[in-house]
Amino acid sequence: MFVSENLGVNAKGHLTIDGADTIELAQQYGTPLYVMDENLIRENLRRFHDSMNKFYEGRGEVHFASKAFSCMEMCRIVASEGDGLDAVSIGELYTAVKAGFPMEKVGFHGNNKSDEELRYCLEVGVGHIIVDNIPELHRLEAIAKDMGKKPHIMFRIKPGIEAHTHEKVLTGQIDSKFGFALETGEAFEAVKEAVSCGNVVFYGVHCHIGSQIFDIEPFEEAAKTMLGFIAKVKNELGYEIKGLNLGGGFGIKYLTEHDPEPFEKFIERVSAVVKAQCAELGIAQPRMYIEPGRAIVGSAGITLYKVGARKVIPDIRTYISVDGGMPDNPRYILYQSEYEAVVANKADQPRDEKVTIAGRCCESGDLIGENMPLQHAESGDIIAVLATGAYNFSMAMTYNRLQRPAVVFVKDGEARIGVRRESLDDIIRNDV
Ligand code: LLP
Repeated sequence: MFVSENLGVNAKGHLTIDGADTIELAQQYGTPLYVMDENLIRENLRRFHDSMNKFYEGRGEVHFASKAFSCMEMCRIVASEGDGLDAVSIGELYTAVKAGFPMEKVGFHGNNKSDEELRYCLEVGVGHIIVDNIPELHRLEAIAKDMGKKPHIMFRIKPGIEAHTHEKVLTGQIDSKFGFALETGEAFEAVKEAVSCGNVVFYGVHCHIGSQIFDIEPFEEAAKTMLGFIAKVKNELGYEIKGLNLGGGFGIKYLTEHDPEPFEKFIERVSAVVKAQCAELGIAQPRMYIEPGRAIVGSAGITLYKVGARKVIPDIRTYISVDGGMPDNPRYILYQSEYEAVVANKADQPRDEKVTIAGRCCESGDLIGENMPLQHAESGDIIAVLATGAYNFSMAMTYNRLQRPAVVFVKDGEARIGVRRESLDDIIRNDV
């Protein structure tokens, strides 16, 4: 009935998420409100790590990409499932540290890491630093020497595979701000240097081919390319690379017509390719890492808004204005991302109108979506926008000095606050 299976309709005709009545949530916590389904988050993590165990015999690790959704409670959930984290800033690291996350299960990314961030990584003992460029390697070496540490590193590699929903383009790989290029020899030269570094341990290679990818083939191609590189390093430098990190990017369902492959299938097919390639190339099977973000939290989240004005422009369109918009979900204005929406207090009725859901900012482009099928919405109704769990809260901003919404976690029908709504004092906290 809805794009995410954890949603339902109760006897009052209200939309439910994991059994919790969304209208009651909106009344209790106010709107706009992010609601996250904890059971679904856990189930998604398990789908990945269970299939890693099944198809790669437990020699894999799932690192949740915290850029998709980061807060202390999320870090606690990931930790309690035994999974790791991908962090990309000192802010994401700090969140994990404060949540008591086991830092040896964290990989730290970034194409422009500061010295402060590198020092912090060593101080808190992150598992791997994924090094992006040679000047960063030199800075890290100096910092490690100074601090008397020997961090494990991976190299971010551009494997020359660019994945979009249904196409694979083998050009443009050099034109990326991330990592070392393979085909120019840059990556090989960098590895040559790294293996002889005294202050770091060169442990693995990493690639990330894109996001919201439905096809498995580009992941298989990336794995093959990376393993070919591992074999080259072994044959020419006599050095065995132990870790292979294939990044994230697994696509999810935003609209009913989307049909992504099951996560298990990704892992099954990629594991099979890795094993076969290793046998063919005569190299040891590396420890495998993946970094799903969207796939863990995307479908687990919804956003609740209250409807204000309904504006019908005859023969043109109907605007339904809500009390949030681009500050809590900038994905339409950035990427024209499409979402499904429901009038949560009329969820048992057909969505027989097509409307534009508009945000409340002083900006015409501030829309949640256009041409969206919706029940007849009027002032005071609650609209739920579905599958907003990834890259919404984490990309939220305070344009027009709007307060960022609260995050509520729901588990077995019970709700609890995960992040409080910003107050007016939060808005002026750093003003002088
Ligand atoms: N690993 C690395 C190194 C990444 O750069 C990313 C995402 C991920 C893992 C997680 O990818 P996922 O599994 O979530 O697709 N703001 C955009 C998405 C940007 C993704 C950037 N990197 C959006 O809202 O669609």
